[in-house]
Amino acid sequence: MVFMRRKLIVGNWKMNGSLGANSALLDGIIAGVRRNDCGVAMCVPFPYLAQCSEMLRGTPVALGAQDVSAHQSGAFTGEVSAEMLCEFGCTYVIVGHSERRSYHAESDEMVARKAAAALGAGLTPIFCVGETLEQRDAGQTEHIVYRQLDALLDAVDGRELARVVVAYEPVWAIGTGKTATPDMAQEVHQSLRERIARRNVTVAEAAIILYGGSMKPDNARELLGMPDIDGGLIGGASLKSPDFLAIVDAA
Ligand code: 13P
Repeated sequence: MVFMRRKLIVGNWKMNGSLGANSALLDGIIAGVRRNDCGVAMCVPFPYLAQCSEMLRGTPVALGAQDVSAHQSGAFTGEVSAEMLCEFGCTYVIVGHSERRSYHAESDEMVARKAAAALGAGLTPIFCVGETLEQRDAGQTEHIVYRQLDALLDAVDGRELARVVVAYEPVWAIGTGKTATPDMAQEVHQSLRERIARRNVTVAEAAIILYGGSMKPDNARELLGMPDIDGGLIGGASLKSPDFLAIVDAA
């Protein structure tokens, strides 16, 4: 059976935005996204969830957060639970972004627990993996992304896995303007899909695997044209509605 995977474009604002800027940006995006486009979502900073939830209600643009606690509730100062994200209308949550893995020392196991917490609350985790330039140069790309992915595969069952979106984000391509070539990205995406297939072939065929790292209007079409690239996780270009819409259009 051949699966038609629907493309998905997700914005990640990171720590950017203000009430005024968000409003203008989302107005532009909502005006440009059509209902029969690919899937579209925006992952916004926690304080703006209420504002963005209100603005996105009834539109084809889904809401997401950028991180979630692995815990359900309790004495975890500063953390935000998956249930809380659900209350604000989130569908998605990014887990294991390389910026969290490196600046906040999140381990593979911790990221997998966050993904499990998100799934438990009915959210779709966007599970990020990716190698540094040093690791790529040392020929360790596959080893690293497999290690990161295996933590997820060990933590969730096949039914849950079917609800996870994976994002391949080579660290050296994030915010640098350096993009993986379509062939480089395709090679890793294919390896990730094969790795999932070792656990569950059906889930692997249907799995959405996003590429992230300097995806822009001028390189999106080529990247999104690769057989195993099912969408994008967009940082910088998600802060400008014409750029974001051009990527949605390419998908
Ligand atoms: P850029 O698109 O700014 O490179 O960021 C990619 C990213 O980290 C998305 O999560």
